[in-house]
Order: sequence, then structure tokens, then C-alpha cells
Amino acid sequence: MALMGVDTRCLGLFLLCTITGHSLEIKVNPPQDFEILDPGLLGYLYLQWKPPVVTEKFKGCTLEYELKYRNVDDASWKTIITRNLIYKDGFDLNKGIEGKIRTHVSELCTNGSEVQSPWTEASYGISDEGSLATKIQDMKCIYYNWQYLVCSWKPGKTVHSDTNYTMFFWYEGLENALQCADYLQDNGKNIGCKLSNLDSSDYKDFFICVNGSSKLEPVRSSYMVFQLQNIVFLGFQSATDKNDMKLKRRENESEEVCFFVRCKVNIYCADDGIWSEWSEEECWAGYTGQESKIIFIVPVCLFFIFLLLLLCLIVEKEAPEPTLSLHVDLNKEMYAYEETLC
Ligand SMILES: *[C@@H]1O[C@H](CO)[C@@H](O)[C@H](O)[C@H]1NC(C)=O
Ligand SMILES: *[C@@H]1O[C@H](CO)[C@@H](O)[C@H](O)[C@H]1NC(C)=O
Ligand SMILES: *[C@@H]1O[C@H](CO)[C@@H](O)[C@H](O)[C@H]1NC(C)=O
Repeated sequence: MALMGVDTRCLGLFLLCTITGHSLEIKVNPPQDFEILDPGLLGYLYLQWKPPVVTEKFKGCTLEYELKYRNVDDASWKTIITRNLIYKDGFDLNKGIEGKIRTHVSELCTNGSEVQSPWTEASYGISDEGSLATKIQDMKCIYYNWQYLVCSWKPGKTVHSDTNYTMFFWYEGLENALQCADYLQDNGKNIGCKLSNLDSSDYKDFFICVNGSSKLEPVRSSYMVFQLQNIVFLGFQSATDKNDMKLKRRENESEEVCFFVRCKVNIYCADDGIWSEWSEEECWAGYTGQESKIIFIVPVCLFFIFLLLLLCLIVEKEAPEPTLSLHVDLNKEMYAYEETLC
């Protein structure tokens, strides 16, 4: 009986030890005052926090922080292990940002066992001022010959006639965000920007914000982030989906740049499309914008397609055998038409 009593007492003690052992497991607090700060650099944000309150046991221990962050809706988190109390990175401000952080105690201090705190979270988002229909569309940026950064956009879907847009940019090395000084304009409205002398801006995130104003309604801001070396266009020519744009420097070395456009006709009887002749040059001063170019290009392209279809039909009817030589003739004929029309 006495033996039994000892046994149950031991068992009880053992259970108590196991349970309290678990609940008394060495614990550490998460960092304090975790927050995501926007210093106004168009997407470059500061994630910062203060050290946790630590129990006597961990005084003098090295603490590490495990930081995870992402743009809302991104599939994966970026993870950083650091001993610092701040981390900076670039984000896409068109979307919200979320982050979480927890404390790790160095294993030297815990006899090899993993000790970490629960997560503490923070989030950030630009206020959604203005309807989506006021936000610019089709923002495009190209860095020509490592010299000029040219960005262009179209106005929002439905905007009041007094709406005008402004572009700001920032990259590491600039004290604060700067406004574009050389806008491309269409009827007095900003539709693009040309930047040059971008000193030591390669291999860094380049942040852009295009916001706007109207007396009648707020205008939604649009953000973009890229690295210049990824959007370089070497040579003075660039091809877009349907039409083609050529950029050249003025012969008088005044650093003025001019655009030329041509259209590609996707024809049915030749494998490759046929290019029209280059248009009259369009320079920055007289830049008329994407819309007017499309107005010019679309009917010309449609006309070519119609003409080629007609020619295809004639060719198929009259001469089914020597197709190859006829194609060559066709192309020549087309060039003659292009010269007069485009
Ligand atoms: C670590 O474990 C060893 C042996 O397992 C023990 O002697 C030592 O006291 C432990 N140290 C701490 C800080 O718990
Ligand atoms: C546009 O953004 C810049 C940079 O953040 C800011 O200084 C400016 O006030 C904004 N303009 C408008 C009209 O919101
Ligand atoms: C360069 O040439 C264009 C016209 O061809 C002219 O408008 C411009 O003023 C010239 N610039 C200089 C610096 O001469």
C-alpha cells in the first residue's frame, strides 16, 4: 500500500513536472512598436521596430529578428533575418503592404533549443483617393541608349477636362522625390516625361508616381518601380506591338530627340509582314501623343490589309503555280503603295 502511495505521488509529480515544464517553456516577447513607415519616396518604405521586453533569463542574450513582408496578394513572403531595428525596401504602392516580425533567441543562450516569440504584424496602404477611372493608363517607360528615360501614359478612362497629371521620381541617392522638369504635352496636358542626366541610377530601384489634379474630383495616383538597366533600349529604334517607333538625335547635337513611326501589315500571302515607310519625324516640342498616331496608323494599316487581301485573291485566281516569284512582285508593288501613302 505504502509503495502504491509513493508510486501515485511520483506519477502525479511527474505529470505536474511535464505539464508545467511545457507551460513554463522559455519564452520571449515579440518586438515592440512594429510599423511600416512611408518617408515619401514613392514606394521605398521603412519597416522598423523596437527590441522586446526580455525576462531576466535572456538579459545579455543576442536577439535576432525574423521579418517577413510582401505586397498584399503576392504569393510569397520575403524573409529577412537581422539584428538591426530597421529594414528598408521598395514596394509597389498601387497595392497594400503587409509585414510580420518575431524575435529569436540565440541558441547559445538556450542550450540549443529553438526559442522564438509569436508574430506581431503591421500593414500599410496609400489612401485610395479618387476613382480608378481617374488613374492614368498604359504607363510605359524606356531608357534609350542609357541616356534618356522616356515615360508616357494615357489619361484615365473618364476624367474631367481640367485634369492634368504630374510625374515624380526617386532613386537611392536623391534626397527626396523630384518632379519631372520636361513633360511631353498634348494640347497643354502632360502625357509623358523625358528625363536625362540620371546620375548613378542604374542597378537600383527607380520609383515613379504619376498623380494629378482636377478642381472637380480627386485623381487616383499611379505607382511604378523598375530598374533602368532592365528597360534599356540600345540603338535608336524600338518596336512596339503594332507599330514601330524610331528615335534619333537631331543633327545639330542639341540633344533633341525625334520620333518616327511606321506600321506593320500582317499580310496573308507573305510570311513576314511588310513595313510601311517611316512617317514624318515628330520631335519633343511638337510631340502629338499616342492617340493622334493611332488615328493616323489605323486607317493606313486597314487600307493595306484590304489591298493585300484583294491582291491575294487576284493572285490565287490567275496564277496558282509560280507563287514564289509572285510574292516578290507583290512586295515590290506594296512598297510602291507605302511610299505614297504612309
Ligand atoms: C545546458 O545543458 C547542460 C547539460 O545538458 C547543463 O549542464 C547546463 O546547465 C545547461 N545550461 C543552461 C543555460 O540551461
Ligand atoms: C503628387 O505626389 C508628390 C510626391 O509624392 C506630392 O509632393 C504632390 O503633392 C502630389 N500632388 C498631388 C496633386 O497630389
Ligand atoms: C536644332 O535644330 C532644330 C530644327 O532642326 C531647331 O529647332 C533647334 O533650335 C536646333 N537647336 C540648336 C541648339 O541649334
